[in-house]
Amino acid sequence: MKQLSLLALVLAQLLVVINCGVYDYTDTWVLSDKTKKFPDNAVLGGFDPNGYDNFVGRVVYSSSILPARIVAETGSASYNTESLANTATSYELLVANVTMSYHWVHSYDGYREKNAVSVGTSNTNDRVYVCRCRTDGALFIGTLYLPQRSCIVRYGNLPLRQVEKYEVLVRKRKADERSPLIPDGWFPLDV
Ligand SMILES: *[C@@H]1O[C@H](CO)[C@@H](O)[C@H](O)[C@H]1NC(C)=O
Repeated sequence: MKQLSLLALVLAQLLVVINCGVYDYTDTWVLSDKTKKFPDNAVLGGFDPNGYDNFVGRVVYSSSILPARIVAETGSASYNTESLANTATSYELLVANVTMSYHWVHSYDGYREKNAVSVGTSNTNDRVYVCRCRTDGALFIGTLYLPQRSCIVRYGNLPLRQVEKYEVLVRKRKADERSPLIPDGWFPLDV
């Protein structure tokens, strides 16, 4: 009987884990809102129909981690799930640095691009990637679930868009400029 309740407890905890999105920490994200100084090395993603530049951000909504479009001038964020559009006042901004830069590559059909940036997971435990596509006079950052094979964008009162040819955000590590003379396979000893 005790073992059975233990099993039930473990199962209940597993369910909690499965139903809750988890942040991806491969890249550097900075918690921000409109009261904070906008980071210089934020990653540009596109522009919205109002002509504002949109930087790459992420938010948590309904236990999913989702890509967000951040406007530096207003300090506001917009984002979408696979069905609805929403806005947020607090978000995380993706930042580049001396060793890591970010680029957009053409992709389609949910193809898994090497080094694609993931914001985290959804409430169904799917990895969520950052895509962008041209629609409605804008270049929108959108939400990419590979099994859905399209970049999903919903902004304001505009209709839901699901675009099969889009771009995916990927990271690129720059060569380590501090040690150009150290040959491959040579590792400094930890001291
Ligand atoms: C640059 O960003 C990468 C990815 O987030 C991180 O692993 C690395 O430590 C950062 N490097 C510096 C110099 O901040």
